[in-house]
Amino acid sequence: MRNGQLIIHPTGEFDNSAKKYKHIVAEPLAAAMGAEIKAIQISDVTDDSFSEIADALYRHKMIYFRDQDMSLADQENFTHRFGEFGEDAYTTGMEDHPNVQPVIKEADTRTHMIFGGSWHTDSPFLERPPAISMVFGADIPPYGGDTMWANSALAYSYLSDTMKNILSSLKVHMSAGNVLHEVQKRQEERHAENIGVSKKNLDAISMIDGAFHPVVRTHPVTGEKALYVDESYAMGIEGMLEQEAAPLLKFIREHITQPAFTCRLRWAEKTLAVWDNRLCLHHAFNDHDGYRRELHRTTVEGEIPQ
Ligand code: SIN
Repeated sequence: MRNGQLIIHPTGEFDNSAKKYKHIVAEPLAAAMGAEIKAIQISDVTDDSFSEIADALYRHKMIYFRDQDMSLADQENFTHRFGEFGEDAYTTGMEDHPNVQPVIKEADTRTHMIFGGSWHTDSPFLERPPAISMVFGADIPPYGGDTMWANSALAYSYLSDTMKNILSSLKVHMSAGNVLHEVQKRQEERHAENIGVSKKNLDAISMIDGAFHPVVRTHPVTGEKALYVDESYAMGIEGMLEQEAAPLLKFIREHITQPAFTCRLRWAEKTLAVWDNRLCLHHAFNDHDGYRRELHRTTVEGEIPQ
């Protein structure tokens, strides 16, 4: 116990072991989550190898592929195998590839805020947040600029039955209000500070109104339950006073993001990372001043969280 927070140490109950597949090889990254998928090029994926990749994604929550010789069209085709493209609230796609969004920080950009720079799940203020997100490392700093993920299904499994019961009927208010306020404040103070993404016209009103989603959501494919609360967007709980909701949300987000439930990816050029946005949070780092970083991002449209 530290500062009243339950700190988990793995006790052998974590199971991020890899299954044996016919078309791919999965190698676990950390005890809690994550796996490298080997022996496959994304540009050569068949129906059979794809079903194994999807299985590995649902098992490990985040999977990554090194040394991928893939084009923007290959990334679009692979994304499309999971479902329709998701709409991203912040970013504009590339001219000839509208479903691929560049996330760029130039070597000489100095900013206090970057895209994805706090623990979050992608666009939960939408009625149908993206189910799956993926990013390809196009230009990667020699060090720094890692991404972390936290397994919110594993975090859920470590709650007491009493806490699970309390949370089971609650709905979280997911709103971009704090994020947009911060962006606006920084732009005013620092003359259009560049957070690394571009957007046509942000639909600020609907992003701030946001959506109410279950605090505990059930994965539509695996039936697994996971906590759906993050640092960036979870602003309140339906029917609760702010003073009541705030400590509960703080507990949940600190519980999910404690070190034991996380993994961390060191990027390399030509690495593709894919994560299941329904049951993990992720966090980018603004620690590579002097080095350019460019990722290409695609998302898959999700369902209304249940
Ligand atoms: C994101 O999708 O949140 C960005 C991830 C990253 O830049 O590492």
